Amino acid sequence: MKTDFKSLKEIHEYYAVNNSCELKKSATQPVYEIIPPSSGILFIGEAPGKNEDLQGRPFVGAAGKFLNELLNTIGYTRDDVYVTNVVKYRPPENRDPSDEEKDSCRVWLNAELLFIKPKVIVTLGRHALGRFVPNVSISISHGEMFEHPTGIPVFAMYHPAAALYNPNLRKDLANDFAKLKSFLDTEKQPTEKSKTIDDILKL
Ligand code: URA
Repeated sequence: MKTDFKSLKEIHEYYAVNNSCELKKSATQPVYEIIPPSSGILFIGEAPGKNEDLQGRPFVGAAGKFLNELLNTIGYTRDDVYVTNVVKYRPPENRDPSDEEKDSCRVWLNAELLFIKPKVIVTLGRHALGRFVPNVSISISHGEMFEHPTGIPVFAMYHPAAALYNPNLRKDLANDFAKLKSFLDTEKQPTEKSKTIDDILKL
């Protein structure tokens, strides 16, 4: 795996060419952000939707608007955090990404993690959670912080789009954001940036 990237933009431009994801045949473009997060918080969603596909930026539609509102409730704005997806291209009709599609974007996401070395990874929905903590149910594990072999804590949340379809989940998401804030507030020392390249490449 190539590891000598100088910027996120370089990572995305490299993997937009060097990936075997079949979804790129039907998608308008890859979807990504290029500014590292000042807060050290990295959110991972599932896959881009229609608006994201058109604009080339993650979470710019209805789910993104809700995500921004949730961030504001804990004193952050979208510019303070980094948002990405397990899969960088829109699946047709917004279907779930297949295992193969997720696998083909795996090194791309690893490169983002390696470059950013986030303080915490927040997974939005079951596809992102499954990438780090396999075989757990989102309905049981949301709001929980998981230890991960890399040393980067992984915090599970519902996907904001799920709460747009099922308003009962809005309260869970609001509570989970409050828990995330407590975690960030009580973290006295900045997380040691000691993750080795090998650790992250194992992900
Ligand atoms: N849902 C996602 O999982 N990702 C996006 O970028 C937008 C909606």
